[in-house]
Amino acid sequence: MIQVSDVDALRRRIGEARSAGRTVALVATMGCLHAGHRSLFAVASRQSDFLVVSIFVNPLQFGPTEDFDRYPRTPEADAAICREDGVALLFTPHPRTMYAPDHSVVVEETSLSRGLCGSHRPGHFRGVTTVVTKLFNLVQPDIAVFGQKDAQQTAIIRRMVRDLNIPVRIVAAPTLREANGLAISSRNRMLDQETRRRASVIHQALRAAVDAYRQGTTNASRLCRDMVARIEAQPDFLVEYVATIDAESLEPVKNVHQNVLLAVAVRAGGVRLIDNELIL
Ligand code: PAF
Repeated sequence: MIQVSDVDALRRRIGEARSAGRTVALVATMGCLHAGHRSLFAVASRQSDFLVVSIFVNPLQFGPTEDFDRYPRTPEADAAICREDGVALLFTPHPRTMYAPDHSVVVEETSLSRGLCGSHRPGHFRGVTTVVTKLFNLVQPDIAVFGQKDAQQTAIIRRMVRDLNIPVRIVAAPTLREANGLAISSRNRMLDQETRRRASVIHQALRAAVDAYRQGTTNASRLCRDMVARIEAQPDFLVEYVATIDAESLEPVKNVHQNVLLAVAVRAGGVRLIDNELIL
C-alpha cells in the first residue's frame, strides 16, 4: 500500500495507475475505521482495480458546538486496516494541504441539505460537499462509494455530481449492522454497553414500520407516530426527527409508497444516531 499526504505525490501515483489501465475508486472517510467502512472498501474493490481511501477529519463540516478537536483519530490502526483490506493508496492530507489559510470558496447544495440532519447541523453539508468536491478533483475517481446509512449525504452528493457535471459514478453501499440490528457507526463506541444493547430499538422501529406498510398502512403520520412511541419508550432516548421522504428528492410524503425512505435521528443517552430503511 502506498500512503501519501501531499497533492503532487497523490496525483503522480494515481497517474501511474491510470497509465497502467486501472480504474480508480474512492472511499472518502474521516478515519477511525470500522466494519462499516470496510464494507465500503469491499464494494469499491469489486467495481474497480485501484482503491484510493482518504482519511481527513474535515474541519469545515463541524459546527461550533461540535467538537472537531475531540473527534477520535486512530491513524496507525486505520493504516493497518487499509493494508489488510487491499487498499492501493491511502491519502492522509494535513488540513493545510486541503485548505489554504485564506480559502474562500465553498460548494453548497441548496435544497436537499435543508431538512433532516441539515436543519439540526447548520453548515454541515456545505462542509461535506466542499471537501468531497476537492477530493473528487484530486483523485478524479471513476466511482466513489458512500454508505446508504448516511442517506441524506449520499443523495446530496449525487445531486452535486449531477448539477456540477462531475464525471464520477456514485455507488451507495448497503448499511452494515451489528448482530442486534444497530447500524454500524463510529459513534456506537460512545454508547455504554446497556444503551448500545437498547439502541437496537431504532432498527426495530424502522422494520416495524416497513411491516406495517406491507400490511397496508400507508399513512405517513401514523407510521411516524408509532416509530417515535416505540423508540421513546426507551429511557433517555429522544427522537430528533422521523421522516418519510422521497428517496431521491428527499421531499416529505404523506402516503408511503415504493422508493420512500423512512429516516430517523435519535439521541440515545446523549449520542446522536441515524438510520433509515427504503421501502422497496
Ligand atoms: O461520511 C463521512 O465520513 C464524511 O462526511 C465524508 C464523506 C468523508 C466527508 O468528510
